[in-house]
Amino acid sequence: MTLNIALPKGRLGEKVYERFERAGFPCPAIREENRKLIFDNEALGLRFFWAKPSDVAIYVERGAADIGVAGKDILLEYEPDVYELSDLGLGKCRMAVAAPQGKYLDPGRTLRVATKFQRIARAHYAGKGRDIDVIHLNGSIEIAPILGLSDVIVDIVETGTTLRENNLEVIEEVAPISARLIANKASFAFQKDMIEKIAAGLSAGLEEPQ
Ligand code: PRP
Repeated sequence: MTLNIALPKGRLGEKVYERFERAGFPCPAIREENRKLIFDNEALGLRFFWAKPSDVAIYVERGAADIGVAGKDILLEYEPDVYELSDLGLGKCRMAVAAPQGKYLDPGRTLRVATKFQRIARAHYAGKGRDIDVIHLNGSIEIAPILGLSDVIVDIVETGTTLRENNLEVIEEVAPISARLIANKASFAFQKDMIEKIAAGLSAGLEEPQ
């Protein structure tokens, strides 16, 4: 039986794949410079594929992938019906509320919040009993408060450079984010031994510097 593994395409995915390699689950073909998206290691019964990071949880939830690696931001936003097996400690960043530097004053009316993460924003403000108007954007969220489209943004902050260079600042922390190993629920029941072996391998030596 082949175990299908969805990896997030991009910089995070490369670090994640290195973790698989170090844990004894390599797939040398993945290192070849080409535009292929699916790679098999028949000897180990593994098939890796690169998915858009925000799509990994869809593949895993529907069973097209048995396991995968997704950001906690995606898990909080879409609440896919999957098992979250472990925190890989990679891709660490935070979800935060940000506003123009030194200018934020609660407007005392419905707060306009621009974000890609509608559910996370709603849950955050519901917890504070604050009424908000969510403005759903697909990217470049940082420009919304500068142009007067919103009062604040809810977005991912990693180094803080994007905020700084656009004269914004964090005004509230929402949640810490990192990459999580997730599993399809049926796959976990049927391929428990293999999936647990991989989960243990990926977490081994986590306390060492990456
Ligand atoms: C994220 C986020 C910020 C940026 C933060 O965007 O939306 O724009 O990273 O990183 P920093 O704090 O290190 O500057 P990402 O690059 O993931 O892509 P996106 O524009 O598609 O959201």
